[in-house]
Amino acid sequence: KKLSIIGMPMDLGQLRRGVDMGPSAIRYAEVVDRLRGLFEEIEDLGDIPVGRPEVVIDQQSKLRNLELITKKSEILATEIDKVVEKGSFPLILGGDHSIAIGTLAGVSRHYENLGVIWYDAHGDLNTAETSPTGNIHGMPLAVSLGIGHKLLTELGGYSPKVKPENVVIIGARALDDGEKELIKETGIKVYTMHEIDRMGMAKVMEETIAYLKERTDGVHLSLDLDGLDPLDAPGVGTPVIGGITYRESHLAMEMLAEAEIITSAEFVEVNPILDEKNKTARVAVELMGSLFGENLL
Ligand code: ARG
Ligand code: MN
Ligand code: MN
Ligand code: MN
Repeated sequence: KKLSIIGMPMDLGQLRRGVDMGPSAIRYAEVVDRLRGLFEEIEDLGDIPVGRPEVVIDQQSKLRNLELITKKSEILATEIDKVVEKGSFPLILGGDHSIAIGTLAGVSRHYENLGVIWYDAHGDLNTAETSPTGNIHGMPLAVSLGIGHKLLTELGGYSPKVKPENVVIIGARALDDGEKELIKETGIKVYTMHEIDRMGMAKVMEETIAYLKERTDGVHLSLDLDGLDPLDAPGVGTPVIGGITYRESHLAMEMLAEAEIITSAEFVEVNPILDEKNKTARVAVELMGSLFGENLL
């Protein structure tokens, strides 16, 4: 099996600069070396150029950097589409979580029923109407469900990218009111920290895997490093205490490796400016090792 790495140095989905250096930080943590033995071939396709544009607020929707995020997401989607087309596994390095809009636009056209695991402290289910911040990195899951600004939802020329019943959120502990409503309306499966504490991560992953296995033909892992506790992953823009531990996260990745259900992945929100000696990028790379089976015998 072949792995294709794409860096997406996007920081336009939120206000804290530095997350555009996420791909560099993850490469500095030796991602390619770490994964080398786990694939027949690894190619690093480099970064998609994002540039340093001025912040532009869309007059009508009030969304920050709407047009630019749309434009860059289209480019990312096209690159990912090519990777999937040639039978390689796409691994995307973020960038803030708004990159998932492009990732899912590129991946999901190849599956009839794409599953998504959203590993995150947040739901990222906001719209311009419900968002407390106007930051697009709080919206990508809603967008992928077809809910949000047309420019974003129609990316790639089709919508939705995922059906709500094919989505599992893991690690949620900072859901906004509008997001909670949307979860109730759509029936998205959510394991908040409450369920993780109560059931244990092993049971959460067992259920998640069984659930997705029977209804999907591919599963995208969208891992926001803020899903982890800030003690383990401090280099993120929107940390929330009381998160998933380092060991629980490895267990989750190992169980996904064992189940062999993941067909694409992205690791987002690594911000080396806010980090402690690149700890968060290193954690990301270690989790990738587990996800791709380095601990399987
Ligand atoms: N819910 C908040 C918002 O909409 C925070 C979102 C954080 N998202 C993230 N990908 N870190 O702004
Ligand atoms: Mn295609
Ligand atoms: Mn988050
Ligand atoms: Mn997120």
